[in-house]
Amino acid sequence: MTTLIESLREATAGMNAQQVLAYFMQKYRGQVALSSSLSYEDQTITQMMVQIDPCARIFTLDTGRMFPETYELLDKTCMKYKIKIEVYFPDYNKVQEMVRQHGINLFYESVELRHKCCEIRKIEPLKRALKDVSVWVSGLRREQSPTRKDMQMIEWDESDSVIKLNPLIDWTEDMVKDYVKANHIPYNKLHDKGFPSIGCQPCTRAVAPGESIRAGRWWWEDPDHRECGLHVKR
Ligand code: ADX
Ligand code: SF4
Repeated sequence: MTTLIESLREATAGMNAQQVLAYFMQKYRGQVALSSSLSYEDQTITQMMVQIDPCARIFTLDTGRMFPETYELLDKTCMKYKIKIEVYFPDYNKVQEMVRQHGINLFYESVELRHKCCEIRKIEPLKRALKDVSVWVSGLRREQSPTRKDMQMIEWDESDSVIKLNPLIDWTEDMVKDYVKANHIPYNKLHDKGFPSIGCQPCTRAVAPGESIRAGRWWWEDPDHRECGLHVKR
């Protein structure tokens, strides 16, 4: 796989985000999918992908614990771009069993239980969503967190056996915000209320001025290891 990734990196060297997306969407037609959390970054990529191909594949993982503002944006985005974002839900049997055994807000109890919840509500549905996908597009940026500082635009994702494409990997927060504004892209209302990074409602809080952008995600845990598991080796 190293050779494939190297050759893809070589072929796309010097391209901007739109050009790289267009390159992959043509080379792997029908097998490229964006996983969208409806964040600023994912909304930016959605706009770019739909511009390249109105039938671009975009999916979201509905954990069942999202903010009302996120659901509102999901609807708004589908209407604006005339698209159907595929919604993936967790296996209800697994959710039911977990909640009966550990309680509805188990994630505050321990890191293990938090990971269990993310595994059932996010990771397993992600695996289902990626089943027939060759290129997984994500809105990761290096600047977002210490856990993301070494990520590349094109990587091989061993855990899911897919090419991972992070078109905005070297974008700054301001670049994303400017792009969203300039292109009239709908965004989550929570961003204007102190939420730079938005995940599930019980695991996300607003940040104070000067705090890091992911300080409000799983804020009770060690900042160097706060990931839900979507983007780490599993
Ligand atoms: S997380 O791992 O901490 O939850 P973050 O919110 O920073 O991730 O988002 C990073 C990328 O992960 C997004 O750009 C998106 O590609 C993917 N992602 C995160 N949450 C979801 C979700 N609920 N549905 C689909 N993709 C998601
Ligand atoms: Fe569960 Fe919180 Fe993970 Fe969402 S972010 S899946 S609520 S632990």
